[in-house]
Amino acid sequence: MSMHKLVLLPGDGIGPEVMAEVRKIIGWLEQNTDASFGAWEDALGGASIDKYGVPLADEVLEACRNADAIIMGSVGGPKWDGVDYNIRPEAGLLKLRKELDLFANLRPAIVFDALVDASTLKPEIVKGLDILIVRELTGGVYFGEPRGIEDLGNGERRGFNTQTYTTSEIRRVGAVAFELARKRQNRVCSAEKANVMESGKLWREEITKLHGEKYDDVELSHMYADNCAMQLLRNPQQFDVIVTDNLFGDILSDEAAMLTGSLGMLPSASLGKPGTPGLYEPVHGSAPDIAGQGKANPLATILSFAMALRYSLNRGDLADRIETAAQDVLSQGLRTADIMADGCKEISTSEMGDALVSALTQAMAEAA
Ligand code: IPM
Ligand code: MG
Repeated sequence: MSMHKLVLLPGDGIGPEVMAEVRKIIGWLEQNTDASFGAWEDALGGASIDKYGVPLADEVLEACRNADAIIMGSVGGPKWDGVDYNIRPEAGLLKLRKELDLFANLRPAIVFDALVDASTLKPEIVKGLDILIVRELTGGVYFGEPRGIEDLGNGERRGFNTQTYTTSEIRRVGAVAFELARKRQNRVCSAEKANVMESGKLWREEITKLHGEKYDDVELSHMYADNCAMQLLRNPQQFDVIVTDNLFGDILSDEAAMLTGSLGMLPSASLGKPGTPGLYEPVHGSAPDIAGQGKANPLATILSFAMALRYSLNRGDLADRIETAAQDVLSQGLRTADIMADGCKEISTSEMGDALVSALTQAMAEAA
């Protein structure tokens, strides 16, 4: 069995704490399965500003290019509020996405049965929810030029960004959404603002064309992004796969994540062309308010590692085992603070990692 090359980027805030739990899982897999890993760890975001003076150092980017998969914790925090805008912690993550051409961001929003009451929505609305947002990640207003803040004189300034999409940028992310839908419920809803934005009009036209050419077996619908935000709250089960641009995807994926009531549970994958390394990170942020207190939920990052096993390392079998172990731990009533409920037992970040390891061991013993 060949060795899987991983780059671990714990980042800032709770990132290092949750990444330590991923290391436990990697260690367990090395001892108990045929998989072997080479894990190289370095700084990203604020931690990288402190270490290298920039949020993503060239040597770290180079290591990421040569990896099979990159696992990230989270970036940002008030400590770096004062740094130059071009080298803020988030700029490191954006550069990593852009440089590795990670154009398709997969953000599942799944309601685990054991956590159905964690949602702020009624259980009957969210029970069994399983939707996937495919967010375009390297285009749109996040990267469009021109951008800037200019001085207009007389005390006026003007801030501006450019929303731009090309045919090929739309088609490649659309194809990812259609392909994934085929393995799910075979439905894609494409969200934009074709009623207001030319880039949205083009988005709708290109998705429609691609669908007609290659994916007409998949059910396709279109929705304005604002309506999509509303429908996600009204009746989220109507969705299977939602495909949308970078900015709308940022917003809609936060909303979808919160439907589950457990941001601390949700993993994500950012993928480029086949054969290039994927980036895996939790949907939650760096949560500086609870950093260093052992309160963070490591499951989102551990489940992101599971996605890496599935999508980049071709070890869906191991991903299944980790996902099942996570369900087992929740069924045992073990909870970190973010998902704590009546009658459950509150445990720390590292206890959650240990519980997962025990569940993996137990499942292995039962299978033997
Ligand atoms: C996300 C985050 C990032 C984004 C930030 C940290 C740059 O909100 O991954 O959703 O806006 O893309
Ligand atoms: Mg976001």
